[in-house]
Amino acid sequence: MIIESEYKKRRDTLAKDFLKNSVVVIFSSEPATRSHDTHHPYRQDSNFYYLSGFKEDNSALMFIKTKNSLKTALFVHKKDKTLELWNGKRLGVKKAKKRFLVDEVYEIDKFNDVFKTSIKGKKNIYFEINSKKSATEKILKSTKIFKEKFDIIPHVQKMRLIKSASEIELMRESISITAKAHHTAMSMNKEGKYEYQLQAEIEYEFRHNAAYSDAYTSIVASGNNANTLHYIENSKLLVDGELILIDAGCEHNYYASDITRTIPVNGRFSESQKELYSLVLDTQLKVISMIKPSIMRSELQKVAEELLTEGMIKLGILKGSAIKAIKEKKHKKYYPHGIGHWIGIDVHDPAPYKDEKDREIPLCEGMVLTIEPGLYIDKNDKSAPERFRGVGIRIEDDILVTKDGYENLSASIAKTIEEIEAESFHKK
Ligand code: GLY
Ligand code: MN
Ligand code: MN
Repeated sequence: MIIESEYKKRRDTLAKDFLKNSVVVIFSSEPATRSHDTHHPYRQDSNFYYLSGFKEDNSALMFIKTKNSLKTALFVHKKDKTLELWNGKRLGVKKAKKRFLVDEVYEIDKFNDVFKTSIKGKKNIYFEINSKKSATEKILKSTKIFKEKFDIIPHVQKMRLIKSASEIELMRESISITAKAHHTAMSMNKEGKYEYQLQAEIEYEFRHNAAYSDAYTSIVASGNNANTLHYIENSKLLVDGELILIDAGCEHNYYASDITRTIPVNGRFSESQKELYSLVLDTQLKVISMIKPSIMRSELQKVAEELLTEGMIKLGILKGSAIKAIKEKKHKKYYPHGIGHWIGIDVHDPAPYKDEKDREIPLCEGMVLTIEPGLYIDKNDKSAPERFRGVGIRIEDDILVTKDGYENLSASIAKTIEEIEAESFHKK
C-alpha cells in the first residue's frame, strides 16, 4: 500500500524541479469510449496517479510555486446525487480534503476561476505539452500569456524510474497473482482446447485474486502464432506437439506484471523444441545474472544477441561466424526485439532510457525491468532446419535491480524444462 505521505513526498520532490513563479497543471485521463455509448473501464492517467493516488475521472492537480512558497490543489468531481446513482460514489471536496495531503481541494467546476487567479504574475507554466486530453487543449488557449511553457511529463517519468519500497511491494503482489495464472495455464493446457479458453483461465485467476485488469492484452499463441509478436486473436485450437507462448500479466493496485512462458500443449517438449528452448533459457539466465547497478541495458542486449546468434549457428539456423551474422543483422530475423523494458505503473513504463545529454542511463538500485529474449522461426522459413519451423519461444521475467545485483521478482514461476513438464496437466 502507498500511504498519502508518499504521494506528498513525490509532489514535493517534483516541485524542486519547477522554476519559481510557475503554475503546473496535470489532468486525469478521460473516459475512453469503446463503441457508441459504451465505455472501457476507467483507468487513471499513470502520471496523475503517481502524483496523487486519486482514481476518479474529471480531476486535476495544480501546483502554484512563488518565490518562497509552494501550494498544491486538487480538483475533484462535485457530489451529484443523479450522477452518483448512475456512475457510483464520488469522494467529493470534503472527504478529499481529509484524505489527501494537498493544500486545497476544489470542485472541478472551479478550475477555470482558480487557474485564472493562480496565473496572475506567473511567467512559467508546466503542463502536458503533448497530451490529447481535451482539458489540456482548453488551457492551451490561455497559456499564450506565459513567457515560457514546459512539459511536466519528462520530470514525472524520470521519478518513476526508481521504485520506492512500497512500489516494489505492490509489484511483488501483482507478480504473485500473475504467477498463479501462469501455473494455472500450465496445468490446464491440453489438445482440443482453444487459445481463448486458456486465456480465460489466466484472466480468471487475475480477477479471482482481485486484479481487475490485465496490464496488456494477453497473448496466448500456439504453434506458428507465436511468431506474430503481438498475436492477441487467441482463437486457434491447441494442437498436440505444438508449443504455446503465453505472455500475460495482471495490473494490481495500478502496478503491472509482464511475464512470458512457453509451454508444450501435450506437457512434454520434443527434442528439437528442447534445443531451441534451452538456448533461449540459457541466454535469459546469463543476461539476468549480469544485472547489477552500473551495467547498461545495451550491454545486456549485446550479450543476448551474441548468445542467441552463436546458439543459432550451432543449431544450423544461421551460417558463418557470429560476428559476421551480427554485423549483417542476420540474427534480427529470428530475434527482432529488445532484451527488455522498464516496468511499473505501466507495462512499458515510460521512464527515460537516456539522460538529458542523450547518454544511456545505467541500471541503478530500485529500477525494475523485464528480461525477455526470444527466438521466432516461421513455419514457411525454408532457410531454417525443418525441425525448428513453426516454433516461437520467449521467456520473460521481471527483475529488480538491488544494491549488489538483482532479484528476479518472478522467480517462483516454473521455467526450466523439468519444472514446466512437472506442472503439466498430463503429469497429474
Ligand atoms: N507483453 C508486452 C511485452 O512483453 O513487452
Ligand atoms: Mn515485456
Ligand atoms: Mn510480455
